[in-house]
Amino acid sequence: MRHDTDVLLNEERVFKPGQEIIDVLHVKDWESEIEKGKDIEKYWAEKAEQFVWFKKWDKVLDDSNEPFYKWFVNGKINMAYNAVDRWITTDKRNQVAVLYVNERGHEKKLTYYELYREVNKFANALKNLGVKKGDVVSTYLPMCPELMVVLLACTKIGAIHSVVYSGLSVGAFVERINDCNAKILITADGTFRRGKIIDLKRVSDEAMLQCPTVETVVVVKHTGIPIEMSELSGREIFYETLIEGEPAELEAEEMDAEDPLFILYTSGSTGKPKGVLHTTAGYMVGVATTLNNVFNIHDGDLWWCTGDIGWITGHSFLLYGPLLLGTTTLVYEGAPDYPNPGAWWSVVEKYGVTKLYTAPTAIRHLMRFGSKYPNLYNLSSLKILGTVGEPINPEAWMWFYKNVGKEKCPIMDTWWQTETGMHMISPLPIAPLKPGSATMALPGIDADVVDDEGNPVPVGKGGLLVIKKPWPAMFRTLYNDEEKFINTYWKEVPGCVYTAGDIARKDEDGYFWIQGRSDDVLKIAGHRIGTSEVESAFVSHPAVVEAAVIGKSDPIKGEVIKAFVILKEGYQLKTQLIEDLSRHVRYELGPVAVLGQITQVDSLPKTRSGKIMRRVLRARDRGEDVGDISTLEE
Ligand code: PRX
Repeated sequence: MRHDTDVLLNEERVFKPGQEIIDVLHVKDWESEIEKGKDIEKYWAEKAEQFVWFKKWDKVLDDSNEPFYKWFVNGKINMAYNAVDRWITTDKRNQVAVLYVNERGHEKKLTYYELYREVNKFANALKNLGVKKGDVVSTYLPMCPELMVVLLACTKIGAIHSVVYSGLSVGAFVERINDCNAKILITADGTFRRGKIIDLKRVSDEAMLQCPTVETVVVVKHTGIPIEMSELSGREIFYETLIEGEPAELEAEEMDAEDPLFILYTSGSTGKPKGVLHTTAGYMVGVATTLNNVFNIHDGDLWWCTGDIGWITGHSFLLYGPLLLGTTTLVYEGAPDYPNPGAWWSVVEKYGVTKLYTAPTAIRHLMRFGSKYPNLYNLSSLKILGTVGEPINPEAWMWFYKNVGKEKCPIMDTWWQTETGMHMISPLPIAPLKPGSATMALPGIDADVVDDEGNPVPVGKGGLLVIKKPWPAMFRTLYNDEEKFINTYWKEVPGCVYTAGDIARKDEDGYFWIQGRSDDVLKIAGHRIGTSEVESAFVSHPAVVEAAVIGKSDPIKGEVIKAFVILKEGYQLKTQLIEDLSRHVRYELGPVAVLGQITQVDSLPKTRSGKIMRRVLRARDRGEDVGDISTLEE
């Protein structure tokens, strides 16, 4: 575990919201909302009332078998019904639900009613393919409206979805499909990215050779590039053909509150990605409530979350959260700086985006081009901004605040995780903001910073970020790995306390400052990637005997990979091999694995039991004291 915790920050600026923001807030009194949230059962039960339940719950929280908490016990509900069906009998029926825009300027709009019909057709088609409640359906799709339709269709019939991010390559893709025994895969011909079309079908074809449980592959014609239905055809069918003639009506499956909703893989300290399992009702309640509180959603909003649906941000706050609140959600496909670095700002101007939720890495990237680009556009529709995925440095915060928000839009720095499902530590718009701090735990959440024994650490000192009480959108387990679920998250400090894997400190006002991961997980452009996943990718190359990987700080991506490799005899780390290794790692893991530096070494620091001591490599790399090395091998 990393113990480089006492990072000092001297950020003292405070920013308060203007009256025009305050006037329309759902929550005007932050402290009393936090006070109300202390009675977690009462607080979350009140929030659960916003949904249509087929049957109300008997008990809000069952904590008799911690950490296997259950929320809204015996309640019956359906996600797609609440995200889509319920709106078609209201005046939102013809409101745009999904606004798709891509970097080529093409757009597609689906009203709630149109979305309803599309979801039903695909859900009927899935049923015809033999998909039943509890079956796993995987996707490898770009940011396109069909992805949203497919996921909603799964939840309508009670199938569990497992999205594979379309930026992942064959190795990571195969691992994710095989771990959950997916029965169906939905993919597409390709995706638009920086003026090119990336061929997804080819990656999928290659992966499918190694995925025996997949019975049917459904292919969306999205970009129109020519593709071959491979020799595997017979199990391949075009999306359009599949839904042809399917009825646009379907009754929603009655799901138990605790029925699985989806699996989403994320990286941990070990090589194998973890299948984070979320269930139905608690996730709905947590996601809708935090989105509404943090971003103050109103009729007339145009919500834009720039995160990909392949990650939790897209699941919770591009797809489900906004639809559960009946707002319009914008889906953008493409790079932020194509065809020019004003691309995003032109979207904000053209469509009148009111709430923009993005990542620090994207802000730092766009900052490089200067304030010229945001100043070319009218961004006055914006009301609230948000960030997620990694700590935001105060310079990036200030740039976003001044140039995009024009010093009128509060920035919600939201801390949360794949595992938490919903925002956990974040300001509400009423909060006084300090650039770089995620402020306080949200109402209904009990977070703290503690030492290894679980004692709160003094003000300003670094410690482990923990959550002390259950919350509704919490993941329920790791798919097929309860032991790892318990050992990774619930054992690090005494008592049944959730350890997030982050280091944080609190200041004299009780504000949280998240410092970064405490484990061997890197954050590259906000994407989580385990050092051991990268090491396995290196070692699977014929020239590499052993590899160790650490994070190296990077001004735009936050962190990139620094690798130390031991090569087989006869190999030298020359330009050709460096290129070859980079290509190999990208092939295995995808472009998320950004290599900063590769160094050839003769040996690696290890414990006597053979574990690589990355902490020693990190300290040496930063020119810091290596600390306690009593367990280091001779
Ligand atoms: O290290 C924290 C960082 O992202 C991790 C969770 O990553 P993931 O599961 O991929 O989810 C990202 C999107 C929710 C956390 O353990 N992180 C996330 N948000 C913040 C953050 N670090 C600092 N500030 C944040 N606002």
